[in-house]
Amino acid sequence: MTKRRKKATEGKTKVIGFGGKGGVGKTTLAALFLRLMGEMDSPAILAVDSDPNTCLPGVLGAEGYQTLGDMVEGYKGGRLPPRKFRQEFNTLLLKNEQEFYDLLPMGRNEGQGCYCSVNDLLRSAFREFVLKGNYAYDFVVMDCEAGIEHISRKTSSFIDDFVIATDSSRMSLNTIKNIRNTQNEVKIDVNNLYIVANRVEDGEMLDRIEDLSGELGMTFLGRMPEDETLKRLNFKGKSIFELPDDSPAYLRMREMANVILS
Ligand SMILES: Nc1ncnc2c1ncn2[C@@H]1O[C@H](COP(=O)(O)OP(=O)(O)OP(=O)(O)O)[C@@H](O)[C@H]1O
Ligand SMILES: [Mg+2]
Repeated sequence: MTKRRKKATEGKTKVIGFGGKGGVGKTTLAALFLRLMGEMDSPAILAVDSDPNTCLPGVLGAEGYQTLGDMVEGYKGGRLPPRKFRQEFNTLLLKNEQEFYDLLPMGRNEGQGCYCSVNDLLRSAFREFVLKGNYAYDFVVMDCEAGIEHISRKTSSFIDDFVIATDSSRMSLNTIKNIRNTQNEVKIDVNNLYIVANRVEDGEMLDRIEDLSGELGMTFLGRMPEDETLKRLNFKGKSIFELPDDSPAYLRMREMANVILS
């Protein structure tokens, strides 16, 4: 077990979420963004995978991690003592340390007596250890569940900047509208909502996505090209860190990250 690095800057923790409809590229964008953060001057970073079908660690080539689902598994049917939960949560973060970031995969939550109580405990542990305290993180990068559930359930209420991936399908564009409506309804404050058109090549479609972004008061970050090398890497089960520095997707993410982090 290694010691968690200390927060590098004095400011507030910045939480950046990646969301959108299923299969539009959330995990890919989150992984590319995280890899870029590794080039920065060693900030303390936490990568959260909220997808119960844990995918982000695989794309990052992370190893030897435990999920929050594994952690609460031991309490199946029983009561979760908050103190014990906080201790184990902290240990989980320490155990899950990777090369330049810590990892928090939520994992599966089925079969738990009451997952609402886990969510409550998680929210308070998040506040106590992730956003505040001596070992708070500078950045939290969150690969969110597909759709809008996490917004309506308010499990994304910590997010400062939300990057929504979209393709050109009607369903994906409707998801963006639903995200905006739900976010307004449940009154979650997000500083910036960004749109990335992933693998959209057609000019008319790109214009429509850009127009929609404007109509909804979101910032259009432009298109992320279809990257053949990235596709092959994924097919072979290799990590995003094996993508060449000059690959089209990585170069585009560099430009997008400049805007997100400015
Ligand atoms: N710009 C891109 N170039 C090439 N391949 C891509 C690109 N974006 C995504 N992919 C590929 O498309 C597939 C789906 O992407 P990804 O897993 O990131 O989507 P997702 O939104 O996270 O899906 P889910 O909703 O299942 O979590 C993956 O195999 C990924 O490698
Ligand atoms: Mg995903």
